[in-house]
Amino acid sequence: MAKFKEAPAGAPAAQKLLNWIDNRFPLSELYNEHVGQYYAPKNFNFWYVFGSLALVVLVIQIVTGIFLVMHYKPDANLAFASVEYIMRDVPWGWLIRYMHSTGASAFFIVVYLHMYRGLLYGSYRKPRELVWIFGCAIFLCLMAEAFFGYLLPWGQMSYWGAQVIVNLFAAVPFIGPDLALLIRGDFVVSDATLNRFFSFHVIAIPLVLIGLVVAHIIALHEVGSNNPDGVEIKETPGPNGHPLDGIPFHPYYTVHDIYALSVFLILFTAVIFFAPEFGGYFLEYNNFIPADPLKTPPHIAPVWYFTPFYSMLRATTDQMVNVLCIVVALGAVLAVLKGGFGAKGKLAALVGALVAVFLLKTFDAKFWGVVVMGGAVVILFFLPWLDRSPVKSIRYRPQWHTYLYGVFVVYFLVLGYLGIQPPSDVGTLVAQVGTLFYFGFFLLMPWWSRIGTFKPVPQRVVYAAH
Ligand code: HEM
Repeated sequence: MAKFKEAPAGAPAAQKLLNWIDNRFPLSELYNEHVGQYYAPKNFNFWYVFGSLALVVLVIQIVTGIFLVMHYKPDANLAFASVEYIMRDVPWGWLIRYMHSTGASAFFIVVYLHMYRGLLYGSYRKPRELVWIFGCAIFLCLMAEAFFGYLLPWGQMSYWGAQVIVNLFAAVPFIGPDLALLIRGDFVVSDATLNRFFSFHVIAIPLVLIGLVVAHIIALHEVGSNNPDGVEIKETPGPNGHPLDGIPFHPYYTVHDIYALSVFLILFTAVIFFAPEFGGYFLEYNNFIPADPLKTPPHIAPVWYFTPFYSMLRATTDQMVNVLCIVVALGAVLAVLKGGFGAKGKLAALVGALVAVFLLKTFDAKFWGVVVMGGAVVILFFLPWLDRSPVKSIRYRPQWHTYLYGVFVVYFLVLGYLGIQPPSDVGTLVAQVGTLFYFGFFLLMPWWSRIGTFKPVPQRVVYAAH
């Protein structure tokens, strides 16, 4: 048994209590490791507030979710009315519901910005690969959580959105129809679907999400935070063993994060009180109509945070599959002519390309659309190994990398916009170019990330006292 430490004689009651707890549970140790003596780089900028904000939004979603479940009924005959009951009759129910619906969009805004920061400063590079991978798994869970949650109000968009997305699984070769049936629990989206989606939304996914967030932070604190210069501060320790460029998280960054939280809450409450539907982007207007399995709405679009990926799905037409075949063939020709590997490698590239073209032409474009949509998220997991740039941060990369990242963001937003719009010929064409750019950005990264003149990375972080 570990030796008990005695609190000094005459110590205040609070210190005695803490001592009593510390002898039984490593409270001070945990606090010091993760807050009081967690040394974070002193050059953090505003991009570093989104992690804490994501934590706050997670808590908001869980707490408001608990209160919503007290009044919500996961029954196809009662669900819609129970949400209206929450909005009209439950004391403060409207606030809880709007906090939860706005929170869903806020979560994605915060997490998209948080991920983009990672991209800008190469935060996914060694030794933070696992931090990134846990992050990508969190992102997948968030998408699943939002998708399952969206069915619960049982409005027209809930119903038909779920119908469209679940039907996508039916496009998987051989097992597709059975898979869609398994997910739905019925031949159409029905009460059985609502029950299982409810179960996933309120317990299964949140449990996994919380576990992943804990793993994400433990992994980060094991290796230490990156920073806008991409300099490893642990490589320059001071006389006391702590990094020379590190400052304790508390109070230096708690104060930053509280400031950011205040700004966030101003915006968050402004939306809740003045524009909770946010022009139909946060709560779609059609979802105020109860689900009607006999009446398909003329235009079904997912909520904004899914639309970049939905656009990629819609862009994958037969024509696009032909383009993909040409891209694969060109890739194989390039590998044979320019690839730095032996005859066996070249043969493998050729055979691989032939198989890929065969598969592309054999299965339906709809199936490849699902693969493209899923692939757009899965590819993020591989980012730590795709980026071969000699420096981490965008600050020390060639200028044109910045423009490339700019184009990436613009395309992502354009894809998002197009996914909200009804399909059109021009829109599909632009989405196809955007999809090719998105995948080109990642798949060609091992090549382009090495090209250009890199600026020398300083030994210590760049910091001006303010
Ligand atoms: C519920 C969602 C999430 C929460 C609560 C969360 C929380 C955090 C927190 C508190 C930090 C430390 C503070 C900061 O650097 O901002 C952090 C860092 C980080 N997160 Fe997340 N995160 C989430 C999602 C994600 C996702 C989706 C990704 C990427 C796919 C990601 C990638 C990273 C990376 C790479 C770092 C280290 C950044 C650096 O040191 O420069 N996180 N996260």
